[in-house]
Amino acid sequence: MKNLINYLKIFLLIIFSLIVSCGSDDDLNVTVIDEEREIPISVDFEVTISETNTFEITVNNTSTGTNGLISYWQFTENGERVADNDGPETHVYAVAGDYLVTLTVEAPDADITVSKTVTIAETSTDNTALKNAANGFSMGMAVRSNRLSGSHNAVLVREFNSLTAEFEMKMDQIYKTEGSLDFTASDIIVDYGVANNMDVHGHTLVWHNSIPSWMNNFSGTDEEFETLVEDYITTVMQRYAGKVRSWDVVNEAIEDGSNALRNSIFRQKMGDNYIEKCYQYARAADPNAILFYNDYNVTFDTGKQNAMFAIVDNLQSKNLIDGVGAQMHISFNFPTRTQIQSVVDGTVSRGLKMHFAELDIRVNPNNDITSLTQQRAIAQQNKAKEVAEIYNAIPDENKFALTLWGMRDSESWLPEFWGQPDWGLFYNEDFSPKRSHEGLLEGME
Ligand code: XIL
Repeated sequence: MKNLINYLKIFLLIIFSLIVSCGSDDDLNVTVIDEEREIPISVDFEVTISETNTFEITVNNTSTGTNGLISYWQFTENGERVADNDGPETHVYAVAGDYLVTLTVEAPDADITVSKTVTIAETSTDNTALKNAANGFSMGMAVRSNRLSGSHNAVLVREFNSLTAEFEMKMDQIYKTEGSLDFTASDIIVDYGVANNMDVHGHTLVWHNSIPSWMNNFSGTDEEFETLVEDYITTVMQRYAGKVRSWDVVNEAIEDGSNALRNSIFRQKMGDNYIEKCYQYARAADPNAILFYNDYNVTFDTGKQNAMFAIVDNLQSKNLIDGVGAQMHISFNFPTRTQIQSVVDGTVSRGLKMHFAELDIRVNPNNDITSLTQQRAIAQQNKAKEVAEIYNAIPDENKFALTLWGMRDSESWLPEFWGQPDWGLFYNEDFSPKRSHEGLLEGME
């Protein structure tokens, strides 16, 4: 008999759940009697849309009889499960649309779920979009030509006003074959930027890590090699003159450790002053383009920073450079605020523009976590806030852009590069902003 009652209860429960999940938005709740504890369980929640940011909702679990039971939220249909902690929870959507919000309570007999649909409308009062929060500088995102539609597009147009091609404007992509330049992917990216009124930052003309293999095996004379590089820089920059506002002309020319010039094929064939030559070609090709030197670890590695500023000083004395790009491939606990500030100070004191390029914040540099813990997510948020604060405090005339090196954690180059999991970026799988995104906003307040 007890079994029969139990079956009946489960049957009723399923019917209730079905009714609820098919129902309309108002006052849904499920009530079942938990016989073991002899108290009724009533599951329900309230959902409200924030007035200041209409992409943000607050959910409040108003269930009764659920003390001691585990419950969780899903902010999209079959979306990621988020623990239901005490008090109201907020969730920010990236994109306008209808979303099914579900609260599930793990009741003794069977899970009880209640779902409601929220409609996130397009809004003009969105103060959580990064580009609106950024004061006097561009918010940049690294993109790929096949990640410019759907939700990628929605996030890009909502939050960003600057683009950098993650890899498709590098030499080994554009100049795959000797004698023929392929602009298919780079055109898609540049056209997208222009169509959406975004700045496009060209990355990068000369980099030891993106040399086409035919060029590495170049068998002509050094003069021929030099002409080839000059022609390449000229053709690419002129194609995009007026569309690409700035270029990393030379990227990562300094060797780690020795801080000497890397002995790249450019140096071997064009000489120790190859950098200066490249900037001369670039200046001549598009005199309106803003020219950057870009490198990594130039915050904490003072030897490398000095070597970089020596290169920059030489270029600046010949009016061949306008800004410094500090790649911000950093970690949740390193480098320090003072170290980051030091590269800003060096750039500002020279009257140059500062680009915080390629921001990602590793949370797992020591490979000691297997998923993004709340503690690390908070540490990442704090570091993001620090970076944005430092950038925000730069004098207006030296501001340029803060560029994020990818959107969703799953799209980051970090896990592959380091050979271990990481969650270095700013959006979740469903394109909702992470805490790190919140940190950026906090830093720009
Ligand atoms: C990386 C991209 O993220 C990868 O997709 C690509 O395969 C290799 O390059 N410094 C730079 C960037 O200047 O161009 C690099 O980007 C990351 C390190």
